[in-house]
Amino acid sequence: MPAKSPSARVPAQVEDLREKLRHHEHLYYVLDAPEISDAEYDLLMQELKELERAHPELITPDSPTQRVGGKPKEGFPKLRHSRPMLSLDNAYNETELRDWDRRVRELTTKDGIEYVCELKLDGLSLALWYRDLQLEKGITRGDGSLGEDVTTNVRTIRSIPLSISAAAVKKSHLPKDFEVRGEVVMPFSSFARMNDEREQQGLARFANPRNAAAGTIRTLEPNIVAQRRLDYFAYFALSPEGTDLFDTHSEALSALSAAGLKVNPNHKVAKSIDEVWNFINQWEARRDKLAYEIDGIVIKVNSVRLQRELGFTGKAPRWAIAYKYAARAGETQIEDILIQVGRTGKLTPVAALKSVPIGGTMVSRATLHNQDEIDRLGVKIGDWVTVERGGDVIPKVVRVLDDKAHPRGTRIFKMPARCPECGGHIVRTEGEVDYRCVNAACPAKLRENILHFASRSVMNIEGMGESLVNQLADKRLVTNVADIFELTEEKLLSLDRMGKKSAQNVLREIEAAKKLPLERVIFGLGIRMVGERTAEFLAEHFGSIDSLMDASEEELQLVNEVGPRIAASIKEFFEEPGNRKLIERLRSAGLTFKGEVKKRGTQLAGKTFVITGTLPTYSRDEAKRLIEDAGGRVSGSVSKKTDFVLAGSDAGSKLDKANELKINVIDEAELLKVLGK
Ligand code: IVH
Repeated sequence: MPAKSPSARVPAQVEDLREKLRHHEHLYYVLDAPEISDAEYDLLMQELKELERAHPELITPDSPTQRVGGKPKEGFPKLRHSRPMLSLDNAYNETELRDWDRRVRELTTKDGIEYVCELKLDGLSLALWYRDLQLEKGITRGDGSLGEDVTTNVRTIRSIPLSISAAAVKKSHLPKDFEVRGEVVMPFSSFARMNDEREQQGLARFANPRNAAAGTIRTLEPNIVAQRRLDYFAYFALSPEGTDLFDTHSEALSALSAAGLKVNPNHKVAKSIDEVWNFINQWEARRDKLAYEIDGIVIKVNSVRLQRELGFTGKAPRWAIAYKYAARAGETQIEDILIQVGRTGKLTPVAALKSVPIGGTMVSRATLHNQDEIDRLGVKIGDWVTVERGGDVIPKVVRVLDDKAHPRGTRIFKMPARCPECGGHIVRTEGEVDYRCVNAACPAKLRENILHFASRSVMNIEGMGESLVNQLADKRLVTNVADIFELTEEKLLSLDRMGKKSAQNVLREIEAAKKLPLERVIFGLGIRMVGERTAEFLAEHFGSIDSLMDASEEELQLVNEVGPRIAASIKEFFEEPGNRKLIERLRSAGLTFKGEVKKRGTQLAGKTFVITGTLPTYSRDEAKRLIEDAGGRVSGSVSKKTDFVLAGSDAGSKLDKANELKINVIDEAELLKVLGK
């Protein structure tokens, strides 16, 4: 038989790569048990992308490369659910729970009902239609009958398989056409990151992960949805005809899991309502340890036959109930409303509260966000309010109480016309919610600015923490960040609790800061909306502060991640004569004002390498440059954070450590292959 030509092998190769990728996606996103590093996964993905680029005719919609596709054009079309998506009745205490159990037993004339207890995930419900084993539609609940077709966005959620393999469906005993219902959630980590980014871009924070997830799933930009790291837990399997697929709900959960969907592992079959009650109490104590928010426990009758018997009331099944946990909330009185001035001059009203314990911690401050929020709540000083600790770390005022025990406060809060810290002018830009102090020399801004400048990710001046910065600002020894570089031992020794040794340490740290790269200086300037990553992109694009300073808004927008708003903010910063003067002083102090203009690749973005031993053709420095130019990072020692060890001959202990930690070891040839060299 003649040997197959290389291109005849491609379809099989492509399919093989896809299978591998799907397998590893399932291990990572569904089972939380990855077997390979992110870098190895990325390499497989890269290989598949390259083959698909060369052979576009082989691309299929369920290829792992096709999660982010075209944008939905105009909003989301409405689609009718196969069967209504109902909600659940709630129980708020043990009595209501036991009443429900009694009613279930009466109606079924059975004792000893078996229940399934599941976490009540605080997200939004979503139906998935699989047709012929392919994900065909993802539909929001909508009004329960008509939902929105958000398929393009749903495809970016990695725990949702784009297709189910024939083997998996066989194992699961599901038909080839079926529907899944479950919950989309945003884990706390994604929520915090997303809110920080929004804040940096001058956008309002989302109040809780549920709103953030709901907002995200309806975003018209699948790319953004993909970055937000939503997760999906399945809790129902339906047949398209409405026939029963399984005898029990717990079998349905196992089937979903066998088909490759993510089922929350924290569920349990309970033989009695006492066991249910135990489950509820156990999880109430443990809910803070979960990576996502839950607001209760859902209890379902396990037998599908009994579910049929029990049926539905108007809007909810009689065979299930949601036990709702009390929000982590407390009631207390607002003694005052204070203003906090941030680094960018933003004024945040903060309620000073009579201390109250909420979910195990004493709370004496709660944010009121902005004037709009105060108006919405109708808050006055002296009011009794409900304060909640939600997914966000900062407690917030959610409602004003008004009854005999909680008489209304009388003092109306007004945003000050002058900054409470410096007396500077306060402005509210047209169309923005926030009020800002415009005085560049405002001491509050100054303190926050210096703290930012000295922090680890900027100039890394250890020892320049809050207490030192407060003193430096109060004594006017530092009135802007350039003054830091004119500090002397004598000046430092004039401060409280400062000895010769500590003063010298601080000065040494300041000296070392001058050698830090350009992007740190740019980040340290505290330009509104310019975070760490943007600073890096700016440094790489312009290569010096001077080119950056002189760039037009059009030029600025050529930089990765810089849009019109960020460009305007950068321009505004450099147009301010005071800021120009500051930059000249930093220049004379000897900070790094030049870098290298780089056209970085992205093949190795986010990956950390360690190089060890002697490489056959490249020196270690050359290899380091290659990796960095492709977007990777090179570190000196092997740890769990290392993605790859690049090993040459005579590699020693680093290689042993890599093997011990099961880190992928590659040689020079493999590196070059990935880089296409
Ligand atoms: S079952 C017909 N199970 O809670 C019953 N719902 O308050 C449908 N939810 O709309 C729901 N976790 O969005 C079920 N393990 C779980 C759940 C869950 C969260 C949500 C779901 C539902 C709402 C009802």
